[in-house]
Amino acid sequence: APVKVKKICCIGAGYVGGPTCAVIALKCPQIQVTIVDLNQARIDAWNSPDFDLPIYEPGLVDVVKASRGRNLFFSTDVDKAIQEAELIFVSVNTPTKKTGVGAGFGADLHYVESATRRIAAVAQNSKIVVEKSTVPCRTAESMRTILEANCKPGCRFDILSNPEFLAEGTAIQDLFSPDRVLIGSLQTQEGKDACGALASVYANWVPNGRILTVGLWSSELSKLAANAMLAQRISSINALSAICEATGANIDEVSHAVGYDSRVGSKFLRASVGFGGSCFQKDILNLVYLSESLHLPEVAAYWRQVVELNEYQKSRFSKTVVDTLFNTITGKHITVLGFAFKADTGDTRESPAISLIRDFLAERAYVTIYDPKVDAEQIWQDLAEANPNLPLELIKKQVTLAPSALEACKNKEAVVIATEWKEFKEIDWQVVYDNMTKPAFVFDGRLILDAEKLRKIGFRVKVIGRGS
Ligand code: NAD
Ligand code: UGA
Repeated sequence: APVKVKKICCIGAGYVGGPTCAVIALKCPQIQVTIVDLNQARIDAWNSPDFDLPIYEPGLVDVVKASRGRNLFFSTDVDKAIQEAELIFVSVNTPTKKTGVGAGFGADLHYVESATRRIAAVAQNSKIVVEKSTVPCRTAESMRTILEANCKPGCRFDILSNPEFLAEGTAIQDLFSPDRVLIGSLQTQEGKDACGALASVYANWVPNGRILTVGLWSSELSKLAANAMLAQRISSINALSAICEATGANIDEVSHAVGYDSRVGSKFLRASVGFGGSCFQKDILNLVYLSESLHLPEVAAYWRQVVELNEYQKSRFSKTVVDTLFNTITGKHITVLGFAFKADTGDTRESPAISLIRDFLAERAYVTIYDPKVDAEQIWQDLAEANPNLPLELIKKQVTLAPSALEACKNKEAVVIATEWKEFKEIDWQVVYDNMTKPAFVFDGRLILDAEKLRKIGFRVKVIGRGS
């Protein structure tokens, strides 16, 4: 029969482990949840007295406030949390490999492996081990081999796959009412019992019909498939945006018309300067690598094109800026509004803003950046990484960070919208115009501004997916 889960440990206190397990603690007051990480600074931030948490996510502070110190704990004592728990989430990072076999495509699984080895080394009784991280298909098998080869006598490990589908910026909402919770297990009695134990945790707030139980490999693959298909929709609409610009069709109208077909659906068809975030590109490349390892080159090429189109969209947008500013931006002053990869997050991983700014710096333009949530240190770190040939002192001569959108636009010749922050819609564009060098240009890479209104003020406006 399924064990009753009383203590949960989550290894990895990041964007997924933190919010996910904080919500479990909130919804299951009878369960003690301990979230552990090796990164002391991160754990200190989770524990900070004034709730200055390491990640910005709407609603998260309230969730943590409700449970921290009651049945929710953050700690660097990984071993103790493992020993006490019946169920352990592994929610560590799985970035794309930078070197070695599969470099640039395959997932770097060494964080998953070291967390797994730690579980095997310190566990004194049986555990349910749950893959929360996004991993290649059949990773659970490697975890099982490691656990079984290293465990103490009498310990048994059941491994589940329970991928996370939350999106940043709406994480709390997504966790409170998920479209579905997916749990993969071996189809043995023990596997099904372990699955039942985890399902009964979610059953505290998720309706039964939304808890899907499937085989382990299907669960692992479904996560990669879901992200690949979401990203594919964006690349499809972005490919069409290029046709719109060349023909005078309007991508908003096309998305609306296409999305009205209930078989297609209206969500996730917003053209943009390109998708960012830590996962879409990584997970598709992972799928490409998997397809290639399985000798399915046509399948690999199909998915690879989703990422290539995204690269094309980003560079196409940079080129539009240069072309429109009379074919040169050398020495010109350009404002980039938004640095996060999407609104309502401070996360900058794979943000399209980074690629745009890299292109502008290569043209030797001066760039001023404003983002309401990303801190300066993060911006410098990202720009240094994206421009390995430019020393940071030189980057700092070309780039300025501004304290507000209005300030950022003063005396500049062009404004580029890179993130769809709501406040960019609400700024007084007349004031922005009055303070800019003329002719004043706006490039809307997120389809958030009223182009007609801006034109009436006097701006020259270019919008993704619209002929001029
Ligand atoms: P993250 O980098 O924010 O957090 C991972 C944390 O794990 C880090 O704080 C790191 O210090 C810690 N860690 C690494 N190895 C450890 C170890 N051996 N012991 C203890 N702690 C360790 O990453 P994230 O964004 O939370 O992503 C985690 C996983 O979830 C990834 O596989 C990702 O693909 C997946 N995912 C992410 C999102 C998202 O929106 N960010 C959504 C769904 C799934
Ligand atoms: C995405 C998925 O939506 C989640 O389901 C998944 O759990 C997560 O990846 C993950 O595995 O990490 P996330 O990357 O946080 O979530 O945010 P999204 O809302 O999906 O946005 C991703 C990127 O696509 C952003 O840059 C966003 O601006 C862009 N986007 C999104 C568009 O350009 N157009 C759209 O219509 C939608």
